[in-house]
Amino acid sequence: MDSLTGKKIVLGVTGGIAAYKAVEIASRLRKAGAEVHVVMTREATEFVTELTFREITRQPVSVDMWAKVTNFNVEHIALATLADYVLIAPATANIIAKTAAGIADDMLTTTVLATKAPLIMAPAMNTNMYENPVTQKNIAELKSRGVQIIEPASGALACGTSGKGRLPEPAEIVQYVMDFAAGEQRLKGRKIIVTAGGTVEPLDPVRYLGNRSTGKMGYAIAAEAAKQGAEVLLVSGPSNLPVPTGVQTVRIQTAREMQAAVQAAYAEADAVIMSAAVADYRPKTVAAEKIKKSEDELVLHLERNPDILYGLGQTKAQQILVGFAAETCNVEEYAKKKLVKKNLDFIVANDVSASDAGFAVDNNRVQLYFRDGRTERYPLMAKADLAKVILEKLAALLP
Ligand code: PMT
Repeated sequence: MDSLTGKKIVLGVTGGIAAYKAVEIASRLRKAGAEVHVVMTREATEFVTELTFREITRQPVSVDMWAKVTNFNVEHIALATLADYVLIAPATANIIAKTAAGIADDMLTTTVLATKAPLIMAPAMNTNMYENPVTQKNIAELKSRGVQIIEPASGALACGTSGKGRLPEPAEIVQYVMDFAAGEQRLKGRKIIVTAGGTVEPLDPVRYLGNRSTGKMGYAIAAEAAKQGAEVLLVSGPSNLPVPTGVQTVRIQTAREMQAAVQAAYAEADAVIMSAAVADYRPKTVAAEKIKKSEDELVLHLERNPDILYGLGQTKAQQILVGFAAETCNVEEYAKKKLVKKNLDFIVANDVSASDAGFAVDNNRVQLYFRDGRTERYPLMAKADLAKVILEKLAALLP
C-alpha cells in the first residue's frame, strides 16, 4: 500500500516555528487519500491560523477543550477513537515531555493519552534543546513504548544557529507515514516464533545456572512483529518485562523446555527468530536437596543441552530462520560459522562485551550476515528500532 486512502489521521500541530510546514503536511496527507483532523495547541495558533488548516483539510480544527461543542464527533475522545494514526509535526520538546509523562492538559495531549492508534512524532526544536539529556531521555522513553520518532534533520535553524533539530521536509514526513502504514500490516497472517531471555538450568532446589539476558531484545521483536500483523508466539525465559500486546507467550525455564515449546509450533511457522540466550550446558544431576558447604572446592558436572536452532535448521521446510550470535571476539568469523552450521537465512551478530549494547540495555549494535553473502552493519540503536530492521529483512525473504 503506497497511499493512505481511507485512513483517518489526527495531525497534532504544536508551537514551533516549523508549524507553518504542517500546512503542507496536511495538504500532502489529503492528496495521499487520508482524512485529516487537525488538533492545534494554543501556542501553535500563534504561528499559523486554524482557518488555514480548516480550508486545507475541509474538517473542523480543534484547539480548545472548552470551546462550544458544534459537532460531538470531533470531541477529543471521538478524535482519539477515530484516528488510524496520530502524527504530531512539529513536535516541540514540551509535547514530547508531556507525552512521556502522561500529562493531559489540553486538547492535543488529551487526545494522545486517550488514543490507541500508533503515534508518530516529528521533533523540531533548537539543537541544544534536542540534545538536552532530558529530551533524549523522553524520546528514548517514547520509543520504548512504540512511539515512532522521525529523526530531525540538520541545518540552519530559525534561532540563527545550525545543527540537528530541523523538521524534515513535509514530503519526507508524509512518506514516513505511508511507509509506516504499509509496514504495519507487512506480516499479516504470518506465524512467527520469537524466543527471548535466558534459559535457567537448575542445580538444586535453590540454585541455577543462568545468564545475563533480560529478554529486552526478544520482547522488542515480538512486540513489533505483532504490530505488523503477525501471529506471534513468544517463548520466554524468566523475564520481568510486560508481555507485549497481542502476543501469545509461553514461559519456560530450561533449554529443553524452550526446545519443546518451539518444536510444538515449528511445523506451522513461517519464521523463527532465536534471540534467546540458551545455555549450552546444564548440570548433569539436579540435587534433590540444597547442596551443603563441605569442601573448599565444589566440582560440577555439566552435560550438553540440545542446540535448538541447529535442530530447526536440520528440519527446515518453508520457515525462515534467524539466529543471533552473542560474541566477545572474532564476531564476524564466529557469526558466519553459526550461519552456515545452523542453516540460517541470516544471523544478527552482537558484541556482548560492549557496555552500551547487547545484554540488559535498551540499545544494541549489530551486523547482519545473510546466507547469500550480504553483510549489513548498523550503528548503536534502540532495540525497538533494531526489531523493525530485523523484521523488514525477514519480510523480504518470506515467500
Ligand atoms: O535479552 P537482552 O538482555 O536484551 O540481551 C539480548 C541478547 C544479548 C541475549 C541477544 O541480543 C543475543 O545475542 N542473543 C543470542 C544469545 C546466544 O545464545 O547466542 P549464541 O551465539 O550462543 O547462539 C547462537 C544462536 O543459537 C542463537 O540464536 C541462540 O538462540 C541459538 N542457540 C544457542 C544455544 C543452544 N543450545 N540452542 C540454540 O538455539
